[in-house]
Amino acid sequence: MDNELFACARAAMARAYAPYSGFAVGAALRGGGGGLYGGCNVENAAYPQGCCAEASAISAMVMDGERNIAEVCVIGNGDALVTPCGGCRQRIREFAVDGTPVHICGPEGLRRTVTLGQLLPLSFGPENLSVKGVES
Ligand code: THU
Repeated sequence: MDNELFACARAAMARAYAPYSGFAVGAALRGGGGGLYGGCNVENAAYPQGCCAEASAISAMVMDGERNIAEVCVIGNGDALVTPCGGCRQRIREFAVDGTPVHICGPEGLRRTVTLGQLLPLSFGPENLSVKGVES
């Protein structure tokens, strides 16, 4: 993982709005065109309506006109690996492939790199919907 991606995720984490969980998360995406997109978690008083860091970063990427994720970096505190939640694995899947690297970091740096395919095996993606049904 390059340092620029990590620095982007760390800077995003510093912007997290997480007064309810107290758990700040930062995410950074490298787009297929080389662009860098950061996002943080943004919570609110109606707890389930909060937005994950990965979702924020994906929104920034799509707003820039980029629709391919080449690499993902996620950073959070604590001893446990801050892997993307189930919903975010699917969100990433929309713009990535099985082999896309997902770098899991702590404040000190990289802890582990996995692929999206490891996080979300046998995934359902946009290609599934390109198959025509019997009645279409
Ligand atoms: N969170 C993320 O932003 N990304 C993850 O991958 C895991 C969880 C956020 C959601 C919530 O604001 C806080 O972390 C605690 O779950």
